[in-house]
Amino acid sequence: MFQLNDKAAMVTGAARGLGQAIAVKLAEAGADIALCDLNAEWLEETAEKVKALGRRAECYGVNVAEGDSVTEGVKAITKDFGKIDVLVNNAGITKDGLIMRMSEDDWDAVLNVNLKGVFLCTKAAMRGMMKQRSGTIVNIASVIGLMGNAGQANYAASKGGVISFSKTVAKELASRNVRCNAVAPGFIRTAMTDALDEEVQNKMKELIPLSRFGEPEDVANVVLFLASDASAYVTGQVLSTCGGMVM
Ligand code: NAI
Repeated sequence: MFQLNDKAAMVTGAARGLGQAIAVKLAEAGADIALCDLNAEWLEETAEKVKALGRRAECYGVNVAEGDSVTEGVKAITKDFGKIDVLVNNAGITKDGLIMRMSEDDWDAVLNVNLKGVFLCTKAAMRGMMKQRSGTIVNIASVIGLMGNAGQANYAASKGGVISFSKTVAKELASRNVRCNAVAPGFIRTAMTDALDEEVQNKMKELIPLSRFGEPEDVANVVLFLASDASAYVTGQVLSTCGGMVM
């Protein structure tokens, strides 16, 4: 049920972090991977990991916030792989600040990558999925999109938007057997959280019933579930992956 043999998956923001973990997880399940990030060269490390699993990896320089770049990227991927079965919209950025001090540029930058990027990639990839009458789209949101967070108005709005966008895609594409779900990660262990001092880390852990930060692989496992036939009857849902922080 969790197999992705003969599937082609497109993963955005795949150069590092969650995107890299997701690409490797989908490759472990048997998928060939179209890796996308701002610069194709940044994707070499992820590509090596995918190839080491015996799967195909191709790298594409795609700016998800720019329509022409996305159209070109999806065209190239469709030509190279023949199809896109799985789309994981993972690319995302933060530009934090209190609303009082948040610039219009910082608002636009975050909304353009995190929300418009999801729209552009979905629109470009869904045509083929509709034609082949199968496909799964997994959008990486955040618990912040469900609960809000002081200092992250732009990020929270973008991730809340990703959640409602995902539900709409699910409704529009269900009749073509294309599913769309969102994953809402909580605190995931990255270079950023590792750098926090122990006291801050312990305070954050008190908010998490499972008393630990998530690992990138915890998120990747949920993405694999939603990308595979194991979730064949699941669409339009948001699956929090946060150690119980949000219920
Ligand atoms: P990261 O910053 O380590 O990686 C993001 C990747 O996206 C980078 O490789 C970056 O180059 C790429 N990217 C940025 N802008 C892009 C654009 N315009 N076009 C194409 N690629 C672009 O981030 P991380 O932590 O791996 O996060 C991945 C996703 O997970 C993001 O959407 C983030 O909001 C979400 N998330 C992360 C959490 C965490 O604790 N790390 C928690 C909740 C959500």
